[in-house]
Amino acid sequence: MSDSLNKTASMDEIVSLCKRRGFIFQGSEIYGGLAGTWDYGPFGVALKENIKRLWWKRFVDGREDMYPVDAAILMNSKVWEASGHASGFSDPLVECEKCKSRFRSDQLEDTTKCPNCGGVLGKERQFNMMFKTSIGAVEDSAATVYLRPETAQGMFVNFKNIIDSIHPKLPFGMAQIGKAFRNEITPRDFTFRVREFEQMEIEYFTHPNEWEGQFAALQEETKKFFFDDLGLSKDAVHEYEVPANDLAHYSKRTIDFEFDFPFGRKELSGLAYRTDFDLKNHGDASTVPLQYLDDATGEKFIPHCIEPSFGLDRAALAVLSNAYTKDALGGEERIYLKLKPSIAPVLCAVSPLLKNKPELVSKAREVFSMLKTEFGRVMFDDNGNIGKRYRRQDEIGTPFCIVIDFETLEGETKDTVTIRHRDSGEQERVSIESLVATIKKLSV
Ligand code: GAP
Repeated sequence: MSDSLNKTASMDEIVSLCKRRGFIFQGSEIYGGLAGTWDYGPFGVALKENIKRLWWKRFVDGREDMYPVDAAILMNSKVWEASGHASGFSDPLVECEKCKSRFRSDQLEDTTKCPNCGGVLGKERQFNMMFKTSIGAVEDSAATVYLRPETAQGMFVNFKNIIDSIHPKLPFGMAQIGKAFRNEITPRDFTFRVREFEQMEIEYFTHPNEWEGQFAALQEETKKFFFDDLGLSKDAVHEYEVPANDLAHYSKRTIDFEFDFPFGRKELSGLAYRTDFDLKNHGDASTVPLQYLDDATGEKFIPHCIEPSFGLDRAALAVLSNAYTKDALGGEERIYLKLKPSIAPVLCAVSPLLKNKPELVSKAREVFSMLKTEFGRVMFDDNGNIGKRYRRQDEIGTPFCIVIDFETLEGETKDTVTIRHRDSGEQERVSIESLVATIKKLSV
Protein backbone atom coordinates (compact mmCIF):
# COMPACT_ATOMS: atom_id res chain seq x y z
CA MET A 1 0.00 0.00 0.00
CA SER A 2 1.11 3.56 -0.61
CA ASP A 3 1.00 6.35 1.97
CA SER A 4 0.99 9.74 0.30
CA LEU A 5 3.56 11.88 2.10
CA ASN A 6 3.38 15.12 0.22
CA LYS A 7 2.40 16.50 -3.13
CA THR A 8 4.29 19.75 -3.07
CA ALA A 9 7.28 19.50 -5.33
CA SER A 10 9.97 22.10 -5.64
CA MET A 11 10.94 23.31 -9.09
CA ASP A 12 14.42 21.81 -8.61
CA GLU A 13 12.92 18.39 -7.98
CA ILE A 14 10.82 18.61 -11.15
CA VAL A 15 13.74 19.83 -13.28
CA SER A 16 15.89 17.05 -11.89
CA LEU A 17 13.30 14.35 -12.63
CA CYS A 18 12.81 15.72 -16.15
CA LYS A 19 16.52 15.42 -16.88
CA ARG A 20 17.07 12.11 -15.07
CA ARG A 21 14.22 10.39 -16.86
CA GLY A 22 14.51 11.87 -20.34
CA PHE A 23 11.64 14.39 -20.38
CA ILE A 24 13.38 17.77 -20.83
CA PHE A 25 17.02 18.83 -21.25
CA GLN A 26 18.70 22.22 -21.37
CA GLY A 27 18.91 23.49 -24.99
CA SER A 28 22.41 23.14 -26.56
CA GLU A 29 23.55 21.69 -23.23
CA ILE A 30 27.00 20.40 -24.29
CA TYR A 31 27.90 23.96 -25.34
CA GLY A 32 26.85 25.47 -22.04
CA GLY A 33 23.22 25.94 -23.06
CA LEU A 34 21.25 28.74 -24.71
CA ALA A 35 19.12 30.79 -22.33
CA GLY A 36 15.38 30.40 -22.80
CA THR A 37 15.55 27.19 -24.83
CA TRP A 38 14.82 23.61 -23.76
CA ASP A 39 14.98 20.33 -25.66
CA TYR A 40 12.38 17.63 -25.09
CA GLY A 41 13.54 14.03 -24.79
CA PRO A 42 11.50 10.90 -25.62
CA PHE A 43 9.09 11.07 -22.67
CA GLY A 44 8.71 14.86 -22.90
CA VAL A 45 7.83 14.52 -26.59
CA ALA A 46 5.34 11.76 -25.76
CA LEU A 47 3.75 13.90 -23.03
CA LYS A 48 3.42 16.89 -25.36
CA GLU A 49 2.00 14.70 -28.14
CA ASN A 50 -0.65 13.39 -25.73
CA ILE A 51 -1.58 16.92 -24.66
CA LYS A 52 -1.83 18.02 -28.30
CA ARG A 53 -3.91 14.96 -29.18
CA LEU A 54 -6.36 15.64 -26.34
CA TRP A 55 -6.57 19.33 -27.28
CA TRP A 56 -7.15 18.44 -30.94
CA LYS A 57 -9.82 15.92 -30.02
CA ARG A 58 -11.69 18.40 -27.82
CA PHE A 59 -11.36 21.56 -29.89
CA VAL A 60 -11.08 20.31 -33.49
CA ASP A 61 -12.11 16.70 -34.20
CA GLY A 62 -14.78 16.67 -31.51
CA ARG A 63 -16.68 19.52 -33.20
CA GLU A 64 -18.09 20.40 -36.60
CA ASP A 65 -17.25 24.08 -36.59
CA MET A 66 -13.43 24.12 -36.49
CA TYR A 67 -11.11 24.54 -39.45
CA PRO A 68 -7.43 23.89 -38.76
CA VAL A 69 -4.60 25.56 -40.62
CA ASP A 70 -0.83 25.18 -40.55
CA ALA A 71 0.47 28.59 -41.59
CA ALA A 72 4.11 29.49 -42.26
CA ILE A 73 6.17 30.74 -39.34
CA LEU A 74 7.71 33.45 -41.50
CA MET A 75 5.13 36.00 -42.61
CA ASN A 76 5.15 39.22 -44.60
CA SER A 77 6.31 42.02 -42.24
CA LYS A 78 3.15 43.97 -43.04
CA VAL A 79 1.25 41.39 -40.97
CA TRP A 80 3.03 42.58 -37.82
CA GLU A 81 2.46 46.24 -38.64
CA ALA A 82 -1.28 45.67 -39.03
CA SER A 83 -1.53 43.45 -35.95
CA GLY A 84 0.14 46.08 -33.76
CA HIS A 85 3.12 43.87 -32.88
CA ALA A 86 5.72 45.97 -34.73
CA SER A 87 4.91 49.01 -32.64
CA GLY A 88 3.42 47.58 -29.46
CA PHE A 89 4.72 44.11 -28.69
CA SER A 90 7.30 45.17 -26.16
CA ASP A 91 8.26 44.85 -22.52
CA PRO A 92 9.79 47.59 -20.36
CA LEU A 93 13.55 47.03 -20.10
CA VAL A 94 16.13 48.42 -17.68
CA GLU A 95 19.86 47.78 -17.81
CA CYS A 96 22.34 47.85 -14.92
CA GLU A 97 24.97 50.51 -15.57
CA LYS A 98 27.57 48.44 -13.73
CA CYS A 99 27.16 44.74 -14.63
CA LYS A 100 25.05 45.32 -17.80
CA SER A 101 22.41 42.74 -16.72
CA ARG A 102 19.01 43.42 -18.23
CA PHE A 103 15.68 43.13 -16.43
CA ARG A 104 11.97 43.58 -17.09
CA SER A 105 11.23 46.58 -14.92
CA ASP A 106 7.63 45.46 -14.30
CA GLN A 107 9.03 42.35 -12.58
CA LEU A 108 11.35 44.23 -10.23
CA GLU A 109 10.45 45.27 -6.71
CA ASP A 110 13.01 48.08 -6.76
CA THR A 111 13.51 49.70 -10.17
CA THR A 112 16.55 51.73 -9.12
CA LYS A 113 18.92 49.05 -7.80
CA CYS A 114 20.31 46.06 -9.73
CA PRO A 115 19.17 42.78 -8.06
CA ASN A 116 22.33 41.18 -9.42
CA CYS A 117 25.15 43.48 -8.22
CA GLY A 118 23.45 46.39 -6.46
CA GLY A 119 24.53 48.82 -9.21
CA VAL A 120 22.38 51.67 -10.52
CA LEU A 121 19.70 50.76 -13.07
CA GLY A 122 19.48 52.94 -16.18
CA LYS A 123 16.39 54.55 -17.72
CA GLU A 124 13.49 52.35 -18.72
CA ARG A 125 12.95 51.76 -22.44
CA GLN A 126 10.60 49.62 -24.50
CA PHE A 127 12.12 46.44 -25.93
CA ASN A 128 10.32 44.75 -28.87
CA MET A 129 10.17 41.01 -28.28
CA MET A 130 9.97 39.86 -31.90
CA PHE A 131 13.01 38.02 -33.29
CA LYS A 132 14.15 39.73 -36.43
CA THR A 133 15.87 38.01 -39.34
CA SER A 134 16.22 38.66 -43.06
CA ILE A 135 14.98 36.73 -46.03
CA GLY A 136 16.91 36.11 -49.25
CA ALA A 137 20.44 37.12 -50.11
CA VAL A 138 20.09 40.91 -49.78
CA GLU A 139 20.20 42.34 -46.25
CA ASP A 140 18.14 45.53 -46.52
CA SER A 141 15.07 46.67 -44.66
CA ALA A 142 12.75 45.30 -47.36
CA ALA A 143 14.08 41.82 -46.55
CA THR A 144 13.35 41.99 -42.81
CA VAL A 145 11.07 39.28 -41.49
CA TYR A 146 10.12 38.22 -37.98
CA LEU A 147 9.68 34.84 -36.37
CA ARG A 148 6.00 34.85 -35.40
CA PRO A 149 5.42 35.72 -31.73
CA GLU A 150 1.98 34.02 -31.82
CA THR A 151 0.26 31.57 -34.16
CA ALA A 152 -2.91 33.69 -34.16
CA GLN A 153 -2.01 35.95 -37.09
CA GLY A 154 -1.51 32.94 -39.39
CA MET A 155 -5.22 32.32 -38.92
CA PHE A 156 -6.47 35.88 -39.41
CA VAL A 157 -4.60 36.22 -42.71
CA ASN A 158 -6.18 32.96 -43.90
CA PHE A 159 -9.73 33.96 -42.93
CA LYS A 160 -10.70 34.75 -46.52
CA ASN A 161 -9.13 31.53 -47.82
CA ILE A 162 -11.30 29.52 -45.45
CA ILE A 163 -14.44 31.49 -46.36
CA ASP A 164 -13.77 31.11 -50.11
CA SER A 165 -12.74 27.46 -50.08
CA ILE A 166 -14.88 25.92 -47.33
CA HIS A 167 -17.85 28.35 -47.11
CA PRO A 168 -18.45 27.83 -43.38
CA LYS A 169 -21.42 29.40 -41.62
CA LEU A 170 -20.92 31.58 -38.55
CA PRO A 171 -20.09 30.89 -35.82
CA PHE A 172 -16.97 28.91 -36.75
CA GLY A 173 -13.39 28.69 -35.59
CA MET A 174 -9.91 28.28 -36.99
CA ALA A 175 -7.35 26.26 -35.05
CA GLN A 176 -3.61 25.94 -35.18
CA ILE A 177 -0.79 24.30 -33.23
CA GLY A 178 2.71 25.57 -33.87
CA LYS A 179 5.89 27.21 -32.70
CA ALA A 180 6.07 30.82 -31.57
CA PHE A 181 9.13 32.86 -30.65
CA ARG A 182 9.62 35.75 -28.25
CA ASN A 183 12.87 37.40 -27.30
CA GLU A 184 11.96 37.41 -23.61
CA ILE A 185 14.18 39.75 -21.58
CA THR A 186 14.36 37.36 -18.65
CA PRO A 187 13.43 33.78 -19.54
CA ARG A 188 12.81 31.95 -16.27
CA ASP A 189 11.15 29.17 -14.33
CA PHE A 190 12.22 26.24 -16.50
CA THR A 191 9.86 25.93 -19.50
CA PHE A 192 7.40 28.50 -18.15
CA ARG A 193 8.89 31.57 -19.84
CA VAL A 194 11.03 30.64 -22.81
CA ARG A 195 12.10 32.15 -26.10
CA GLU A 196 10.84 29.35 -28.31
CA PHE A 197 7.60 27.57 -27.44
CA GLU A 198 4.49 25.97 -28.89
CA GLN A 199 1.01 27.42 -28.87
CA MET A 200 -2.37 25.78 -29.42
CA GLU A 201 -4.73 28.55 -30.50
CA ILE A 202 -8.26 29.03 -31.73
CA GLU A 203 -9.76 32.09 -33.39
CA TYR A 204 -13.52 31.67 -33.07
CA PHE A 205 -15.59 33.98 -35.27
CA THR A 206 -19.09 35.03 -34.35
CA HIS A 207 -21.74 37.64 -35.06
CA PRO A 208 -20.86 40.76 -32.98
CA ASN A 209 -24.14 40.37 -31.01
CA GLU A 210 -23.33 36.83 -29.99
CA TRP A 211 -19.83 37.07 -28.61
CA GLU A 212 -20.80 36.78 -24.94
CA GLY A 213 -22.47 33.38 -25.30
CA GLN A 214 -19.54 32.04 -27.34
CA PHE A 215 -17.05 33.42 -24.83
CA ALA A 216 -18.84 31.59 -22.00
CA ALA A 217 -18.99 28.35 -24.02
CA LEU A 218 -15.24 28.43 -24.76
CA GLN A 219 -14.53 29.22 -21.12
CA GLU A 220 -16.37 26.00 -20.17
CA GLU A 221 -14.51 23.95 -22.80
CA THR A 222 -11.21 25.30 -21.47
CA LYS A 223 -12.09 24.08 -17.99
CA LYS A 224 -13.06 20.66 -19.34
CA PHE A 225 -9.71 20.49 -21.15
CA PHE A 226 -7.78 21.28 -17.98
CA PHE A 227 -9.75 19.09 -15.61
CA ASP A 228 -11.17 16.20 -17.67
CA ASP A 229 -8.40 15.85 -20.27
CA LEU A 230 -5.21 16.96 -18.50
CA GLY A 231 -6.35 15.93 -15.02
CA LEU A 232 -5.24 19.18 -13.34
CA SER A 233 -6.52 19.59 -9.77
CA LYS A 234 -9.54 21.86 -9.59
CA ASP A 235 -8.12 23.78 -6.65
CA ALA A 236 -4.88 24.57 -8.53
CA VAL A 237 -6.53 26.36 -11.49
CA HIS A 238 -7.93 29.88 -11.10
CA GLU A 239 -9.80 32.21 -13.42
CA TYR A 240 -8.57 35.77 -13.35
CA GLU A 241 -10.59 38.55 -14.95
CA VAL A 242 -7.94 40.88 -16.37
CA PRO A 243 -8.77 44.47 -15.35
CA ALA A 244 -9.55 46.92 -18.15
CA ASN A 245 -6.33 48.89 -17.68
CA ASP A 246 -4.25 45.72 -18.08
CA LEU A 247 -5.88 44.34 -21.24
CA ALA A 248 -3.76 43.67 -24.33
CA HIS A 249 -4.17 46.25 -27.10
CA TYR A 250 -6.53 43.98 -29.06
CA SER A 251 -8.78 42.82 -26.23
CA LYS A 252 -12.05 44.09 -24.75
CA ARG A 253 -12.25 41.23 -22.24
CA THR A 254 -9.72 38.62 -21.13
CA ILE A 255 -9.83 35.82 -18.62
CA ASP A 256 -6.47 34.34 -17.72
CA PHE A 257 -6.45 30.77 -16.49
CA GLU A 258 -3.79 30.63 -13.81
CA PHE A 259 -2.14 27.60 -12.27
CA ASP A 260 -0.41 27.16 -8.91
CA PHE A 261 3.07 26.31 -10.19
CA PRO A 262 5.80 25.53 -7.61
CA PHE A 263 7.09 29.10 -8.17
CA GLY A 264 3.70 30.73 -7.63
CA ARG A 265 0.34 31.34 -9.27
CA LYS A 266 0.99 32.18 -12.92
CA GLU A 267 -0.78 32.36 -16.28
CA LEU A 268 -1.39 29.01 -17.94
CA SER A 269 -3.62 30.11 -20.82
CA GLY A 270 -5.72 33.05 -21.93
CA LEU A 271 -9.25 33.56 -23.27
CA ALA A 272 -9.64 36.89 -25.04
CA TYR A 273 -12.45 38.73 -26.80
CA ARG A 274 -10.51 40.32 -29.68
CA THR A 275 -13.56 42.06 -31.23
CA ASP A 276 -13.07 42.76 -34.98
CA PHE A 277 -9.64 44.24 -34.26
CA ASP A 278 -7.60 41.79 -36.34
CA LEU A 279 -9.89 41.22 -39.33
CA LYS A 280 -10.54 44.94 -39.57
CA ASN A 281 -6.87 45.91 -39.41
CA HIS A 282 -5.74 43.26 -41.88
CA GLY A 283 -8.64 44.15 -44.17
CA ASP A 284 -7.68 47.84 -44.10
CA ALA A 285 -3.92 47.27 -44.42
CA SER A 286 -4.09 44.68 -47.20
CA THR A 287 -7.11 46.34 -48.93
CA VAL A 288 -8.64 42.86 -49.13
CA PRO A 289 -11.98 43.07 -47.22
CA LEU A 290 -12.21 40.39 -44.54
CA GLN A 291 -15.94 40.14 -44.15
CA TYR A 292 -18.75 37.64 -43.88
CA LEU A 293 -21.95 37.64 -45.90
CA ASP A 294 -24.96 36.12 -44.19
CA ASP A 295 -26.87 34.50 -47.08
CA ALA A 296 -30.11 34.34 -45.11
CA THR A 297 -30.29 38.00 -44.08
CA GLY A 298 -28.04 39.63 -46.70
CA GLU A 299 -26.08 41.26 -43.86
CA LYS A 300 -22.38 41.83 -44.60
CA PHE A 301 -20.11 42.46 -41.62
CA ILE A 302 -16.77 41.84 -40.01
CA PRO A 303 -17.16 38.97 -37.54
CA HIS A 304 -15.93 39.34 -33.98
CA CYS A 305 -13.38 36.94 -32.55
CA ILE A 306 -12.96 34.98 -29.30
CA GLU A 307 -9.50 33.52 -28.79
CA PRO A 308 -8.65 30.65 -26.44
CA SER A 309 -4.84 30.59 -26.47
CA PHE A 310 -2.87 27.77 -24.82
CA GLY A 311 0.86 27.41 -24.34
CA LEU A 312 1.80 23.76 -24.80
CA ASP A 313 5.02 24.01 -22.78
CA ARG A 314 3.17 25.61 -19.88
CA ALA A 315 0.44 22.98 -20.08
CA ALA A 316 3.10 20.24 -19.95
CA LEU A 317 4.78 21.92 -16.98
CA ALA A 318 1.46 22.24 -15.16
CA VAL A 319 0.74 18.55 -15.80
CA LEU A 320 4.20 17.56 -14.49
CA SER A 321 3.91 19.78 -11.38
CA ASN A 322 0.40 18.52 -10.72
CA ALA A 323 1.43 14.86 -11.08
CA TYR A 324 4.68 14.92 -9.08
CA THR A 325 4.04 12.86 -5.96
CA LYS A 326 6.18 11.59 -3.11
CA ASP A 327 5.05 8.76 -0.89
CA ALA A 328 6.25 5.71 1.01
CA LEU A 329 5.71 2.35 -0.61
CA GLY A 330 6.58 -0.78 1.34
CA GLY A 331 8.39 1.41 3.85
CA GLU A 332 10.56 3.06 1.18
CA GLU A 333 10.28 6.60 -0.06
CA ARG A 334 9.52 6.95 -3.73
CA ILE A 335 8.63 9.55 -6.33
CA TYR A 336 6.03 8.96 -8.99
CA LEU A 337 4.07 10.93 -11.57
CA LYS A 338 0.38 10.49 -10.94
CA LEU A 339 -0.65 10.99 -14.56
CA LYS A 340 -3.96 10.02 -16.10
CA PRO A 341 -3.45 6.94 -18.30
CA SER A 342 -4.55 8.96 -21.35
CA ILE A 343 -1.72 11.43 -20.86
CA ALA A 344 1.10 9.21 -19.54
CA PRO A 345 4.04 8.95 -21.98
CA VAL A 346 4.05 5.18 -21.50
CA LEU A 347 0.71 3.46 -20.93
CA CYS A 348 2.25 0.14 -19.99
CA ALA A 349 5.69 -1.36 -19.61
CA VAL A 350 6.22 -5.07 -20.28
CA SER A 351 9.03 -6.98 -18.54
CA PRO A 352 10.28 -10.54 -18.21
CA LEU A 353 10.89 -11.23 -14.51
CA LEU A 354 14.47 -12.21 -15.37
CA LYS A 355 16.19 -11.14 -18.54
CA ASN A 356 18.52 -14.15 -18.73
CA LYS A 357 15.71 -16.70 -19.08
CA PRO A 358 14.94 -17.02 -22.81
CA GLU A 359 11.52 -18.61 -22.20
CA LEU A 360 10.44 -15.59 -20.12
CA VAL A 361 11.92 -13.13 -22.61
CA SER A 362 10.22 -14.66 -25.63
CA LYS A 363 6.82 -14.75 -23.89
CA ALA A 364 7.34 -11.14 -22.75
CA ARG A 365 8.19 -10.13 -26.34
CA GLU A 366 4.95 -11.78 -27.51
CA VAL A 367 2.86 -9.87 -24.96
CA PHE A 368 4.77 -6.67 -25.76
CA SER A 369 4.02 -6.97 -29.51
CA MET A 370 0.35 -7.56 -28.83
CA LEU A 371 0.07 -4.47 -26.58
CA LYS A 372 2.29 -2.31 -28.79
CA THR A 373 0.05 -3.00 -31.79
CA GLU A 374 -3.01 -2.16 -29.75
CA PHE A 375 -1.85 0.88 -27.74
CA GLY A 376 1.40 2.23 -29.26
CA ARG A 377 2.58 3.78 -25.99
CA VAL A 378 4.11 0.54 -24.73
CA MET A 379 7.70 -0.02 -23.61
CA PHE A 380 9.75 -3.20 -23.30
CA ASP A 381 11.74 -2.82 -20.10
CA ASP A 382 14.28 -5.44 -19.03
CA ASN A 383 16.81 -3.03 -17.55
CA GLY A 384 17.99 -3.75 -14.00
CA ASN A 385 16.02 -5.81 -11.47
CA ILE A 386 12.26 -5.67 -11.20
CA GLY A 387 12.32 -3.25 -8.23
CA LYS A 388 14.43 -0.77 -10.17
CA ARG A 389 12.14 -1.08 -13.20
CA TYR A 390 9.12 -0.23 -11.07
CA ARG A 391 10.90 2.82 -9.63
CA ARG A 392 11.88 4.03 -13.10
CA GLN A 393 8.40 3.48 -14.54
CA ASP A 394 6.90 5.24 -11.49
CA GLU A 395 9.01 8.30 -12.24
CA ILE A 396 7.96 8.24 -15.89
CA GLY A 397 4.36 7.97 -14.71
CA THR A 398 3.59 4.58 -16.29
CA PRO A 399 0.25 3.46 -14.84
CA PHE A 400 0.65 -0.27 -15.55
CA CYS A 401 3.70 -2.57 -15.38
CA ILE A 402 3.12 -6.03 -16.78
CA VAL A 403 5.44 -8.83 -15.72
CA ILE A 404 5.88 -12.23 -17.30
CA ASP A 405 7.08 -14.65 -14.62
CA PHE A 406 7.45 -18.41 -14.20
CA GLU A 407 3.77 -18.73 -13.39
CA THR A 408 3.03 -17.41 -16.87
CA LEU A 409 4.69 -20.47 -18.37
CA GLU A 410 3.02 -23.42 -16.65
CA GLY A 411 0.51 -24.85 -14.21
CA GLU A 412 -2.88 -23.44 -13.34
CA THR A 413 -1.69 -19.90 -13.88
CA LYS A 414 -0.35 -20.61 -17.40
CA ASP A 415 -0.85 -17.69 -19.78
CA THR A 416 -1.50 -15.19 -17.03
CA VAL A 417 0.63 -12.14 -16.17
CA THR A 418 0.77 -9.65 -13.32
CA ILE A 419 -0.33 -6.05 -13.67
CA ARG A 420 1.26 -3.77 -11.10
CA HIS A 421 -0.63 -0.55 -10.43
CA ARG A 422 1.54 2.55 -10.15
CA ASP A 423 -0.37 4.49 -7.50
CA SER A 424 -1.05 1.70 -4.99
CA GLY A 425 1.86 -0.60 -5.88
CA GLU A 426 -0.67 -3.45 -5.78
CA GLN A 427 -0.58 -6.32 -8.23
CA GLU A 428 -3.24 -8.47 -9.84
CA ARG A 429 -2.96 -11.51 -12.05
CA VAL A 430 -4.91 -11.53 -15.31
CA SER A 431 -4.99 -13.76 -18.37
CA ILE A 432 -3.04 -12.65 -21.43
CA GLU A 433 -6.25 -13.14 -23.39
CA SER A 434 -8.06 -10.49 -21.34
CA LEU A 435 -5.09 -8.10 -21.03
CA VAL A 436 -6.07 -5.63 -23.76
CA ALA A 437 -9.64 -5.37 -22.47
CA THR A 438 -8.43 -5.02 -18.87
CA ILE A 439 -6.03 -2.18 -19.72
CA LYS A 440 -8.73 -0.44 -21.76
CA LYS A 441 -11.10 -0.68 -18.82
CA LEU A 442 -8.48 0.62 -16.39
CA SER A 443 -7.59 3.53 -18.69
CA VAL A 444 -10.95 5.30 -18.82
N1 GAP B 1 -2.52 35.02 -29.40
C1 GAP B 1 -2.59 35.51 -28.07
C2 GAP B 1 -1.36 35.29 -27.30
O1 GAP B 1 -0.34 34.90 -27.85
P1 GAP B 1 -0.36 35.45 -24.91
O2 GAP B 1 -1.05 35.59 -23.57
O3 GAP B 1 0.74 36.36 -25.21
O4 GAP B 1 -1.52 35.56 -25.98
C3 GAP B 1 -0.76 32.89 -24.97
O5 GAP B 1 0.14 33.95 -25.04
C4 GAP B 1 -0.16 31.71 -24.21
O6 GAP B 1 1.11 31.35 -24.78
C5 GAP B 1 0.16 32.03 -22.75
O7 GAP B 1 -0.98 31.87 -21.93
C6 GAP B 1 1.22 30.98 -22.45
O8 GAP B 1 0.63 29.75 -22.18
C7 GAP B 1 1.98 30.90 -23.77
N2 GAP B 1 3.19 31.74 -23.72
C8 GAP B 1 3.29 33.05 -23.98
N3 GAP B 1 4.57 33.47 -23.85
C9 GAP B 1 5.29 32.38 -23.48
C10 GAP B 1 6.67 32.16 -23.20
N4 GAP B 1 7.59 33.14 -23.28
N5 GAP B 1 7.08 30.93 -22.84
C11 GAP B 1 6.16 29.91 -22.77
N6 GAP B 1 4.87 30.06 -23.05
C12 GAP B 1 4.41 31.27 -23.41
